[in-house]
Amino acid sequence: MADSYRSLFLLLLPLVACGEKEDDDTGDTGDTGTPPITERETGCYQLPSELTDCVPPGDVPLEQVIPQTCGAAVVSVDGNGTLSDGCDWIGGFAPSAWCIYPITVIPPEDECDYGRPLMIQGAPHLAPLVRREGWTAGRTTTPADPEGAATWARIGLAEHASVASFHRFALELMALGAPESLVRLAHEAATDELRHARLAFGFASDLAQVELGPGPLSLEGLTLDTDLVAFARATAREGCIAETLSALQMAEARDRASDPRQRAVLEGIARDEAKHAALAWRALRWALDQGGEEVRLAVVEVFSRAPSLPVSGGLLPPELACASVQRGWQEVVRPAALRLLGGGTISARDQLQLS
Ligand SMILES: [Fe+2]
Ligand SMILES: [Fe+2]
Repeated sequence: MADSYRSLFLLLLPLVACGEKEDDDTGDTGDTGTPPITERETGCYQLPSELTDCVPPGDVPLEQVIPQTCGAAVVSVDGNGTLSDGCDWIGGFAPSAWCIYPITVIPPEDECDYGRPLMIQGAPHLAPLVRREGWTAGRTTTPADPEGAATWARIGLAEHASVASFHRFALELMALGAPESLVRLAHEAATDELRHARLAFGFASDLAQVELGPGPLSLEGLTLDTDLVAFARATAREGCIAETLSALQMAEARDRASDPRQRAVLEGIARDEAKHAALAWRALRWALDQGGEEVRLAVVEVFSRAPSLPVSGGLLPPELACASVQRGWQEVVRPAALRLLGGGTISARDQLQLS
């Protein structure tokens, strides 16, 4: 299986490379916003095959610790490990020797929907699901499967909401005077999401044996982030984090799909979502280039929080979705954010748990 995580990180790499500014070991610029809240819990660490006993806490690579709380970011390993033949909260993975350690984590801030969410007043927003015609693509005859129908309907609604989210994003880019390429890519992404929505509603309708689609999308309370700080914060959270993690979950779902038609659709969606994630990182870099320290610190604060858990809509079992989020955060989002913000102050480094 191709390593989707490595591939996406390599795709993002040129977008997040920044000027090689040296870290300033004495230059703590102080306030970076509210310090993240931490909690104590336990984490699993899979022992390398050559080891038969737990390593001291200081030798455990933080990025390889799997916390009990899905989506939490591991800050430290706080005590000696206990040898175990499994990791309960990721059951079914790689049977081998594990060590269970007491750890400190930053819990996930909130949950968000699959893909790029349409955030209204701080919460992801979807249209209602209704019986209607005209919102499907690729219909075929298939046996009824209510559970599968519900999964694909949920994905369809999330994709449908992403259409609106990208239109808002495009308007914000225009209001902020962004380059044509970003505005164009935002519009293209909205068109991609429309296609994803129709394909998802197509599967949902096939499996439900009744044609389904979105009802009216209420936009009450929707605002535009025409302030660069708010725009950068939303782009980091909704694009760089949510879409990147969603793209990886889609790639996982593609690799596990047994139905060839669903696999082909997931292949296309995963490819598009990776493109959308790249757009978010590109836009964030532009915002950082435009803005001053205020923009930068706002972005640092977003990335200093643990990732929200983008719901994969049931395409992946919860433990797989959880493991994908964890791995995506550690191997793609966090290293990309560190590169993008590289050369920052010590306080920024600390916020991102670099050291
Ligand atoms: Fe999508
Ligand atoms: Fe997307």
